Amino acid sequence: MKIALYSGTFDPITKGHQEIIKRASKMCEKLVVAVLVNKNKKTWFSQAERKEMVQSVLQDIPNIEIIEYDGLLVDYMAKIDCKYIIRGLRAVADYEYELTLAYGNFEISSGEVETVFIPSSKKYLYISSSLVREVASYDGKLDNYLDDRIVEKIRVRSKEQK
Ligand code: COA
Repeated sequence: MKIALYSGTFDPITKGHQEIIKRASKMCEKLVVAVLVNKNKKTWFSQAERKEMVQSVLQDIPNIEIIEYDGLLVDYMAKIDCKYIIRGLRAVADYEYELTLAYGNFEISSGEVETVFIPSSKKYLYISSSLVREVASYDGKLDNYLDDRIVEKIRVRSKEQK
């Protein structure tokens, strides 16, 4: 693939996301990582803060561009002539939701945008950003879930939430 896109809310980005991004970056010439607004989620971090964390943990991967976006993914993709969305597949629970998104994006792009699934490795099957926030809110151990470069930011924000 010449160009592909991986998107998420990344509140915060986890090692599970990083694993998928690393593998996806090897499958394309350029991978755009889009930090999005999900209207159904109230986030701990602003979009700019989430983008900054994404930048700090992905700085070693050369063929990545990180952007902030609020809108329909397929509209942005049309502008940059990108036809592939990368999604990580974790447990069975992801399947139905992911199919809905994949068919949705296919249909609203008039069949232009395909979704490519990468199976998450066993180690990261059950991680999510909300799990990380919950563990952080009880001062739990975060090193299995988060890159060292952002752990302190999550600890500080967790205290501010209390
Ligand atoms: N490792 C660890 N966690 C992962 C993961 C992985 N590989 N993949 C997903 N997750 C987590 C996410 O952190 C998120 O956790 P949370 O619910 O606790 O915050 C959860 O699994 C769901 O992930 P995802 O589906 O990527 O949700 P999201 O909110 O991060 O992103 C959007 C959803 C923003 C990508 C999607 O709503 C979107 O594309 N919106 C744009 C608008 C649009 O075009 N809509 C039309 C769709 S047809």
